[in-house]
Amino acid sequence: MVTNNFPNLFQPFEIGPLKLKNRIVMPPMGTNFADLNAPGFISERHKSYYAERAMGGVGLIIFEGTRVNPNRLARKGGPDLHGDQFIPGFQELVGLIKDGGARCAVQISDRGRVGNLKVDFSGKFDASDTKQGEYVGASARPHPMSGVVAEELGTKELEQIAGYFADAARRAKMAGFDAVELHGAHGVLLNEFLSPYSNKRTDQYGGDLQGRSRFPLMVVRRVREALGADLVLSYRMSVVEFVEGGMEIGESILFAKMLEAEGVQVLHVSAGINETPSAMNRAIPPMSFERGRLFPYSEQLKKALRIPVLVVQRITTPELAEEAIREGKADLVATGRALIADPYWPLKAMEGRVNEIRRCCSCSQGCIERLIQEQPMTCLQNPEVGFEAIYRPMLKKSEAKTKKRVLVIGGGLAGMEAACVCASKGHEVRLVEKEGQLGGMARLASIVESKREFSGVVEFLENQLKEFNVDVRLNEEVTTQAVKDADFDEIILATGSLPVVPDNLRTCACDVRLAKYVLEHPEDVGREVVILGGGSVGIEVAEFLHRLGKKVTVIEMMDMICRDQGPLRRADMIERIQKTDVSIMLKTTVQDVTETGIRISRDGKVDILKLPDTVVVAVGAKPNSISLPGVGRIHTVGDCRKVGNAMAAIHDAFEVAIHL
Ligand SMILES: Cc1cc2nc3c(=O)[nH]c(=O)nc-3n(C[C@H](O)[C@H](O)[C@H](O)COP(=O)(O)O)c2cc1C
Repeated sequence: MVTNNFPNLFQPFEIGPLKLKNRIVMPPMGTNFADLNAPGFISERHKSYYAERAMGGVGLIIFEGTRVNPNRLARKGGPDLHGDQFIPGFQELVGLIKDGGARCAVQISDRGRVGNLKVDFSGKFDASDTKQGEYVGASARPHPMSGVVAEELGTKELEQIAGYFADAARRAKMAGFDAVELHGAHGVLLNEFLSPYSNKRTDQYGGDLQGRSRFPLMVVRRVREALGADLVLSYRMSVVEFVEGGMEIGESILFAKMLEAEGVQVLHVSAGINETPSAMNRAIPPMSFERGRLFPYSEQLKKALRIPVLVVQRITTPELAEEAIREGKADLVATGRALIADPYWPLKAMEGRVNEIRRCCSCSQGCIERLIQEQPMTCLQNPEVGFEAIYRPMLKKSEAKTKKRVLVIGGGLAGMEAACVCASKGHEVRLVEKEGQLGGMARLASIVESKREFSGVVEFLENQLKEFNVDVRLNEEVTTQAVKDADFDEIILATGSLPVVPDNLRTCACDVRLAKYVLEHPEDVGREVVILGGGSVGIEVAEFLHRLGKKVTVIEMMDMICRDQGPLRRADMIERIQKTDVSIMLKTTVQDVTETGIRISRDGKVDILKLPDTVVVAVGAKPNSISLPGVGRIHTVGDCRKVGNAMAAIHDAFEVAIHL
C-alpha cells in the first residue's frame, strides 16, 4: 500500500521471489525466550512476541540468531536449528508471522570465539560455560575479557561446520521461511575468519582477503545450494569493526562483491564486534551515539553493488528511515530496538499517527543488557514484551468490566505509566502533579546532552495521556480531605523519591546544591565543583558541568563509577567521562565539609581538598511516600515504594495498573 505518509518507506520492494510490502525490516535480535524446559525450541513467548511485530506493519522479520552447530555452546533461552525436531515449532512461528502480514527470514549462526559473551551486572565476565572443545575460533586467541584461549578450528571441522549451516538452511526452507540470513557480523565465526583482527591463521583460510574469505564463501556456497532458487539469501556483516587492525570499509566492499558473485541477494550492513561491553556499544549503540550512523557506509556499498543493501543501527524514527530510502542511503532499513519498544510503529507511521509511537531511546537496559546477563529480554518502556498473549487482551478498553474512578498522585514516569494503563482499560483517571511539568526525574535526566533522547519516553507518555483523555492537573498538591471528598475507587501513589543529603552537609557553610537543582539551574554553579557520589547521576552531572566549562572533581566511595548502571551503559559513560578532564577519586569517603575544605579519607589516609565554589550532592535517593490517613485502596508504585531506575518504575506501575 502506498501512502502519503513516508511514501518512500512504504514503497513495496522485490528481492528475487520475495515481495516486501515496505522497506522496514526487523533485524535479528536474540530474546532468550526459549523455554528452559525445552531448550532450543520455539516457545509460546516467541510466538506471541513475533506475531505482534508482524501485525505491527513491518515488511520483513529476520528471526533472531539461531544455532546451527550442536557442538557449540547454547545460549540459555536461545533457539536451535541443528536438528529436524526443531522444524515444527518454526513452522508454527512462520505461519503466525505470515498471518500477521510480514515476510520472514531466519538468521543462522555459529557464534565462534566471541559468542559466549556473558557478564554479570557489574560487567565481570563469566567464563564458567567456556568449556574445552566448545570454545573455538578462527585462531587460538584469548578472549579479551576472560583471557581464555579459543582452540583453532581444523580444516576438517570447517567442512563440518559448513555442512551444519547447509542443513539448517534446508530446515529453514522446510519450515516455510522466505529467506535465510547468514550471520557474518559482530565477531561471530564467519566474521572472525574474514577479519584480519581475529584471523591469524597461516593456512589457506588466513592471510590476505582471498584467504580470509575462503571459509565464509564456502559456507555461502553450501547454503545457496541448499536453498535453491525459492529462498532469498542475505548476508550480515560488520563492514567496519571499530577495532585496531579490524575490517574497514574498503575490504568490506571487496568482500561484498564476492558475496554478490556467489548468489547472496541482500547485503545487511552492520558494524562492531561483541567482544567487550565497550566494543559491543559499536554493534548495538547506546543513545549517546549518532542516529543513522552507518549511512555513510551503506551508501558506499549501495553504489558498489547491484544487490540491495539493508542498513541498521539507531534508525529510531520513521522520519530518518524515510530519509535513508529517499536519499538512496540504502534500499531497506532495519530498526531493531525501536520494534521492541513499539511493534506497531510502522503501522502508526503509515497512518500518520506519529505522536502515538513509543520511541525507543536506545537505552539497551531491558533488551541487550539483560540478554548478556542471560535473562529474557524486555524493554524499559514496554513491559508487554514477551508477554503479549497475556497483556494485550487485558489492555483492551472492554477489559475494565467496572469503570472505576482512579486518582494517580505524582506525574513522574511511574505515575504517567499507571495513568495511561488505567485509562487505556477504560477507567476514568485523574493525574495530579505538584510541579508545573510532567516527567519528574526522567525529564531532568534528559537535560544531559548524552541522554537527550530520554525525553522521548516522557513525550510519549504525555501524548498517551492526551490520547486517553486523562484529567491531568499540574501545580496541584493533594490533601487528605480533598482525596476523601472526591471518593475515588482506586488511588495510585507515585510520588517518587527525595535526594539523600548527608547530615554533615546540612549545616555546612559552603555552597551545597542537589544534583537535580544543578541540572535546572547551572547558572548558580561556581567554576570549581566537587560532586559527591559517582553513581550515574553524579557522572551525568559531571559531564553536564564539564560541557559548561566547569572544573569538576567526583568523589566516589566505591571502586567503580556508575555502579547502578548495567555493563553496556556503564562502559559508555566511563568512556565518555575519561575523554574529559573531570577528575575522579575512587574509594574515597568524605568525612566532613568545613569552611576551609573537604576532609576525605582514602586508603586509610586523611587529606583535605580545597573548598570548591560549589559542592553537588549525588549520593542517592530515598522513597518519598506521603501519608493519607483514613484513605483506602492505595497502591504505591515506583520510587516511592522502592527507589530504582526508570525501567523499574515503569514496570512496577504497569503491573499494578493492569490489574485494576
Ligand atoms: C536484544 C538484542 C539482541 C540481538 N541479537 C542479535 C542477533 O541474534 N544477531 C544479530 O546479528 N544481531 C543481534 N542484535 C543486533 C541487532 O540486530 C541490531 O543490529 C542492533 O540492535 C542495532 O540496531 P538498532 O539500533 O535498530 O537496535 C541484537 C540486538 C539486541 C538489542
